[in-house]
Amino acid sequence: MKTVLVIGGGGREHAIVDALARSPQVSRIYCAPGNAGTGEQAVNVPLKDTDVEGLKAFALEHAVDLTVVGPEASLSAGIVDAFRAEGLRIFGHTAAATRIESSKEFAKQLMSKYGIPTAAYRSFSDYGEAVEYVSRRPFPAVLKYDGLAAGKGVVIASDMQEAREALASMLLDHSFGQGRVVVEDYLEGPEFSFMCFVCGDDVYPMPLSQDHKRAFDGDKGPNTGGMGAYTGLPFITAADREFAYQEIMCKAASGMVSEGCPLSGVLYGGLMKTADGIKVIEFNARFGDPETEVVLPLLQGDAFALFDAVASGSPVGPLEWSDEVTMGVVLASRGYPGHYEKGFGISGIDAAGARVYHMGTALKDGRLVTNGGRVLMPVCKGRSLAEARKKVYEAVSRIQCDNLFYRSDIAHQALK
Ligand code: AMP
Ligand code: GLY
Repeated sequence: MKTVLVIGGGGREHAIVDALARSPQVSRIYCAPGNAGTGEQAVNVPLKDTDVEGLKAFALEHAVDLTVVGPEASLSAGIVDAFRAEGLRIFGHTAAATRIESSKEFAKQLMSKYGIPTAAYRSFSDYGEAVEYVSRRPFPAVLKYDGLAAGKGVVIASDMQEAREALASMLLDHSFGQGRVVVEDYLEGPEFSFMCFVCGDDVYPMPLSQDHKRAFDGDKGPNTGGMGAYTGLPFITAADREFAYQEIMCKAASGMVSEGCPLSGVLYGGLMKTADGIKVIEFNARFGDPETEVVLPLLQGDAFALFDAVASGSPVGPLEWSDEVTMGVVLASRGYPGHYEKGFGISGIDAAGARVYHMGTALKDGRLVTNGGRVLMPVCKGRSLAEARKKVYEAVSRIQCDNLFYRSDIAHQALK
């Protein structure tokens, strides 16, 4: 029987813990730091996801057979390199391979070198040169800080004044750090997420999903970490998916092998279906959140065997996925993604009639309370999206908490 350590503490990690808990091989799961939801299926360990030394010592001491990494911050901190140097098995990319997410310029160069379709771009470190370039181009202008910026490093500027402010914040005030700025063409079309398990040249696709990045209905309001997701995208054809698989995901995987930094975990393609074909908006080097919460429940078969094979470079058999679809709605703290209060009591989860993933919860004196911007995500399956939607919004209505809001239009692009 196997012992597993899952690193991270959000809804993505709860979904990973949940998938591993279904494996007949797994007898013990630790989650660091975890949340109140992971605490029901795993033993939470109070270690930060970037505390590489502490996590390594924990894995050695507790004879962990496999560690599964959720957050990009852990990967960028070199957790995979450090664990492998100790002979510990770990699912996730090396720090060098994680640059496909952590450095926009690295990702852009990879795409241009290996012919992967994406928006044309130029990158700048000098404020004056960036302003000059942007002023000669059409608006909106897409400005991306080149480095990890907690989802806040992309500005779509509609005029020169907005562009100047964003460039000044990124290149003069160094609000996110000392990185460069990528300026790229503005693309239009529906976005979708394509996650694949990747081990070197081998690429195993997961079902497609779609996130909802804006805070409010109608895709209004500020960008968030994601307010809901679903699988079963009617606007992506089988030919689109095959193109995205061959021309984007497989090319990226083999490009990374050629660059000397092979992938060994999840490659997430944030893709857009434009009038001119499918293009990459961004790559991430990890499971998406909230996409993982709607995708992993469809995995049939043993999640431990799958993660273990990817982590060790062994062959992975064909993956089996349920042909149902899923939908999940994020319940977030009022004020998120800006300032919000924590510590509000939550009830009704057991009676919700859904799998409820915890994103930001804690136990306080034995009582379940809110403990983050995104708090809970009920997820339901259905034979159709309409059925999944009906079930998941019923579940939402059964959860009580004084300080939560949610979007009531998840999957609106699919259910017009
Ligand atoms: P990213 O952090 O790169 O995923 O960007 C955040 C969001 O900004 C994306 O989900 C898109 O909605 C939008 N975005 C990023 N790049 C572009 C682009 N080149 N054209 C249009 N929208 C974009
Ligand atoms: N849902 C977007 C992300 O995980 O980056």
